[in-house]
Amino acid sequence: MLICRTERPGDGDDIDEVVFAAFDRPDEADLVLALREQGAISVSQVAEYEGAVIGHLAMSPVLIDGEDLGWLGLAPVSVWPDCQRQGVGSEMIREAINAANELDWAGIVVLGEPAFYRRFGFRPASELGLESAYPGVGDAFMALALKQPAPRGRVSYHPAFDGG
Ligand SMILES: CC(C)(COP(=O)(O)OP(=O)(O)OC[C@H]1O[C@@H](n2cnc3c(N)ncnc32)[C@H](O)[C@@H]1OP(=O)(O)O)[C@@H](O)C(=O)NCCC(=O)NCCS
Repeated sequence: MLICRTERPGDGDDIDEVVFAAFDRPDEADLVLALREQGAISVSQVAEYEGAVIGHLAMSPVLIDGEDLGWLGLAPVSVWPDCQRQGVGSEMIREAINAANELDWAGIVVLGEPAFYRRFGFRPASELGLESAYPGVGDAFMALALKQPAPRGRVSYHPAFDGG
């Protein structure tokens, strides 16, 4: 049975492994470590199958026009290669959105495949008047407002995303 749950103390090494395996390179695993070290992971969801961690998802606070307005950036999402395309990522994303709602966050942005993220309620962020600090991302930059009214402005991720 697939279990999606909040990260627990002691999950760190398993998460590191699954992020590394999903992307087949160290960059995203290093990013998760950097975010963790800086206390910037606000939602951390783990997918577990028969006791093994097979997926992970992190959300960290973003700034809008330099202000903390209670919005989160969803990244990275990682599913163990052999377990991809079986609904694990979708289940973690749904659980993480619920968790963000329960924790009273105001909204979530994500940079990803529009066809995939639309199914969870994300829309092109430009429709809400939100733009990415990264140029040229177009409709791959998506947003989901959990509270209304949604703010407008330029969204910047935590400095760890730029290697800070
Ligand atoms: C992207 C990822 C998190 C999705 O998790 P998953 O458990 O495989 O996804 P689900 O089974 O819930 O959903 C499947 C959908 O994901 C999308 N998807 C999965 N892998 C994809 C890929 N390589 N390219 C494009 N879309 C992909 C598709 O829309 C797919 O829908 P379909 O099966 O109807 O075509 C997972 O495949 C992964 O870890 N990939 C490698 C790391 C990565 O690229 N992460 C995302 C960027 S942060």
